[in-house]
Amino acid sequence: MNQDQPIGIFDSGIGGLTVAYAIQKALPNESMIYFGDTAHLPYGDKSAAAIQAYSIKIADVLLKMNCKVIVIACNSASSAATELLKEYVGKRAHIINVIDPMVSLVVNKFSGKQVGLIGTKRTVQSNVYAQKLYALDNSITLQQLATPLLVHMIEEGFFDNRISHDIIAQYLNDPVLEGIDALILACTHYPLIKKEIGDFYNQRIAVLDSSEEVAESLRAYLATNNLLSKNKPQHKFLVSDYTESFEASTKLFFGEVVHLEKHRLWE
Ligand code: SIN
Repeated sequence: MNQDQPIGIFDSGIGGLTVAYAIQKALPNESMIYFGDTAHLPYGDKSAAAIQAYSIKIADVLLKMNCKVIVIACNSASSAATELLKEYVGKRAHIINVIDPMVSLVVNKFSGKQVGLIGTKRTVQSNVYAQKLYALDNSITLQQLATPLLVHMIEEGFFDNRISHDIIAQYLNDPVLEGIDALILACTHYPLIKKEIGDFYNQRIAVLDSSEEVAESLRAYLATNNLLSKNKPQHKFLVSDYTESFEASTKLFFGEVVHLEKHRLWE
């Protein structure tokens, strides 16, 4: 591996752009190749086996493009495919998921507290956050709720309006989340509605998204392994199916997109 290789990042759609944006801010010299698997969106309603198959195909694409690190910028894929990808990719690239940096943050800041979590069905059913958190600190109480409508709502650009407020309130009023001190956004799409979620709680509790922690864990890995780029970055955005919402969101985060290419995972 060397400093000039790009960082590969993938998600089912636009959610991982929140992670890519944080990486760009923290590591402005790194080139990124972002893969949005829009043909298979949303991952959160799929089986673990399906998500694993998509993740392997995407890893092949990113490895072919010579990525030194692959960031799984999706909680559903992080919960279903991290171990498999680590094994599959081996020494060809380093794998970073979005769950471990969040677990470290929660253990450091919310020991002994009641912590809520909202995510996709896949992420909540996997119970991976509870397993990882309790293995490090069993004084934390984790209260988890699947909120599957939110990804669809966000992908449609349907937020910050009366209906999105109602859907968010309907979920967050669920008794499962009663009494929490902090709320984990266990889906990389949800930072796009972080303000609305914070407003629901009158900004009285901490609303946690992992994008900055993921960027920091990437920075630490690159620095430790002498892999930090000194180049002028060049980003590429690949999608398995063209969607207007993906193009609009990419422009929102990154301004004029240099490359937006369609790349089918299966012929
Ligand atoms: C999804 O594809 O369903 C959402 C992505 C995520 O789980 O972070």
